[in-house]
Amino acid sequence: MPKEFLIVIDGPAGAGKSTAARILARKLGYRYLDTGATYRVVALKAKEEGVTPEMAEELCRLCAQIEIKFEDTDDGQRVYSDGRDVTETIRTPEMSMLASSISRQKVVREAMVDLQRGLGGPGVVAEGRDMGTVVFPQAEVKFYLDATPQERGIRRHKELLTRGIPTALSQVIEETIKRDQDDQNREIAPLRMAQDAVYIDSTGMSAEEVAVRMLAEIEKGW
Ligand code: DC
Repeated sequence: MPKEFLIVIDGPAGAGKSTAARILARKLGYRYLDTGATYRVVALKAKEEGVTPEMAEELCRLCAQIEIKFEDTDDGQRVYSDGRDVTETIRTPEMSMLASSISRQKVVREAMVDLQRGLGGPGVVAEGRDMGTVVFPQAEVKFYLDATPQERGIRRHKELLTRGIPTALSQVIEETIKRDQDDQNREIAPLRMAQDAVYIDSTGMSAEEVAVRMLAEIEKGW
């Protein structure tokens, strides 16, 4: 049995991080940690309570009270907010934009980073925007997954259609680019490639091909 690593994957929206991370985790028998989901859960709760991204104090209170849980099932990973299954509710385009806005707040980042550190460790594939730079700088294996904005938009669009959320492709591409700019230009923990990360451009690659490529990189270190 080879040594277990903490593997992190960062990159922009639609780069294929979550599908590749899930496949990789399955191949290795690791747990999958979706850190974007933690920001999405906070965004949903904030919306339901009428809290906007500018209301730092209310967001701080909300983050202190909220209970975020993940459960692995035969049907994939489920996400719970205070015991309520929000797996699908947090995936709408509205929640994508709101999660991006809310993740700019220092109080939110501090609470989520604490939570994420508690869930990460050897034998985990953690995926997000600041995994290799801020949350798990000590991770033994780091990837930065990228793809062209056009391809990322097309993937998101397909994903939304599959989930029964019809949206115009041009709008999805526009929102994907806007969200990347927001995530890259925020003050705290902006989306950046860690210096010691392996860069993979997934344009034209399937998620399975990306996971196989990652596995080959990991095996080099065994
Ligand atoms: O990966 P995702 O699309 O589910 O993430 C939703 C938003 O959450 C993303 O636009 C920015 C934020 N996020 C973050 O700031 N840091 C992370 N580690 C993961 C997500």
